[in-house]
Amino acid sequence: MSRGCFITFEGLDGSGKSTQIQKLKEFLEAEGREVILTREPGGTDIGEKIRGIILDPSNTEMADMTEAYLYAAARAQLVRQLIQPALSEGKIVICDRFVDSSVAYQGFGRMMGESVKLLNSFAVDDCVPDITFLLRLKPQGGHARIAGRELDRIELEGMDFHQRTFEGYEKIASDEKDRVVVVDASGSIDEIHEVIRDKVRDFL
Ligand code: ADP
Ligand code: TYD
Repeated sequence: MSRGCFITFEGLDGSGKSTQIQKLKEFLEAEGREVILTREPGGTDIGEKIRGIILDPSNTEMADMTEAYLYAAARAQLVRQLIQPALSEGKIVICDRFVDSSVAYQGFGRMMGESVKLLNSFAVDDCVPDITFLLRLKPQGGHARIAGRELDRIELEGMDFHQRTFEGYEKIASDEKDRVVVVDASGSIDEIHEVIRDKVRDFL
């Protein structure tokens, strides 16, 4: 059976990932493709329980290393239970965040460095996205968009943390130009969708 296609979306909170993922899914389904949508942390029953622990704002005592392992644990389950089986059935899997989120948020935001890549290499095996869209929006822009919604434990972090995370994403993009497509997320929803749609169409 042919391997499907694994597409991930990355960016700061409020950069428009969910919005663009929904539009891409509608486009691909209209073309007759079978699409599986999932998200991190979560996507499986076990992963959603881990998500609850990670994002609970009352878990103020959580150590950075615990946080990194919990994201990786949810990811290990998602890869084995959903992503790998779907790809081996030839489906298109779109995931809202993946390893790059841990590298950017825990590696750079929490300043844990390279250890994050190492522990995630165990979590994901050889499961690497075919294409990753990085929706580039500065922290201030993302915050303005999500103002008014209830913020989780990570979103409640200060501007310094989000600025380091932003810079982490920039580093990932410059290190992995073949995989990561940077999209200016300050444009209109339709403009951004067209850029993403054209890239995916070329890829497929
Ligand atoms: P994310 O999943 O990255 O957190 P969302 O897709 O939930 O981001 O978008 C956050 C908010 O910004 C939503 O209210 C959404 O409607 C709005 N939004 C998304 N894309 C754009 C855009 N290109 N321009 C203006 N607002 C946007
Ligand atoms: P997300 O589901 O994108 O938040 P929302 O649905 O509110 O937009 O992600 C939850 C938070 O977890 C987000 O602030 C980013 C953070 N995160 C990490 O810090 N590391 C990771 O590995 C992942 C997947 C997410």
